[in-house]
Amino acid sequence: MSRIAIIIGSTRPGRNGKAVAHWVYEIANQRSDAEFEIVDIADYDLPLLDEPKGAASGEYTKPHTKAWSQKIDTFDGFIFVTPEYNHATSPALKNAIDFLYKEWNNKAAGFVGYGATGATTAVENLRMIMAELKVADVRAQVRLSLFTDFENFSELKPAAFQEKSVHDMLDQVINWSSALSVIREPK
Ligand SMILES: Cc1cc2nc3c(=O)[nH]c(=O)nc-3n(C[C@H](O)[C@H](O)[C@H](O)COP(=O)(O)O)c2cc1C
Repeated sequence: MSRIAIIIGSTRPGRNGKAVAHWVYEIANQRSDAEFEIVDIADYDLPLLDEPKGAASGEYTKPHTKAWSQKIDTFDGFIFVTPEYNHATSPALKNAIDFLYKEWNNKAAGFVGYGATGATTAVENLRMIMAELKVADVRAQVRLSLFTDFENFSELKPAAFQEKSVHDMLDQVINWSSALSVIREPK
């Protein structure tokens, strides 16, 4: 069975991202076609990228990089829960992505964006990054608006239709995570 990480893409104190990721996890856990785990970047205390060699080398020197690598390596697919900061994803998420390379390759990804307009620009930005990492990013995505899916821009109250949009996105991520297993090295 595919293992899918739900990655919290924000590390800011008071972040909305944590509630969004837990909401996605609750919906995902209704399913029996994959296993899901929340991965909080904040738990890994990643500094700004401090490895001397590029991630494609796989030659990691720092304990935080090795711990992050070991965790991400265990997954077959990813749900990136991303805010939008100045029309891009968060610097914390971009930095965490940049630390690794092979751990992302030949896996699938979907996106749950939240912001004034569902973080659509941040997700477009992430899709370009995924191509470089050989990640197959699915079409379906979840767009949560701070105006209509939150109260006071801080309390998550998603519109009813959003649950279906999560399942639509999960359907595609699980399909592609499984399909791509044939070209991944066995774990
Ligand atoms: C530095 C910064 C820049 C932001 N820029 C945008 C933006 O360009 N577009 C948008 O829709 N929301 C923007 N926002 C609003 C965030 O998407 C919103 O505050 C969201 O809750 C941030 O995620 P977080 O609470 O998990 O950190 C910005 C917020 C911050 C802190």
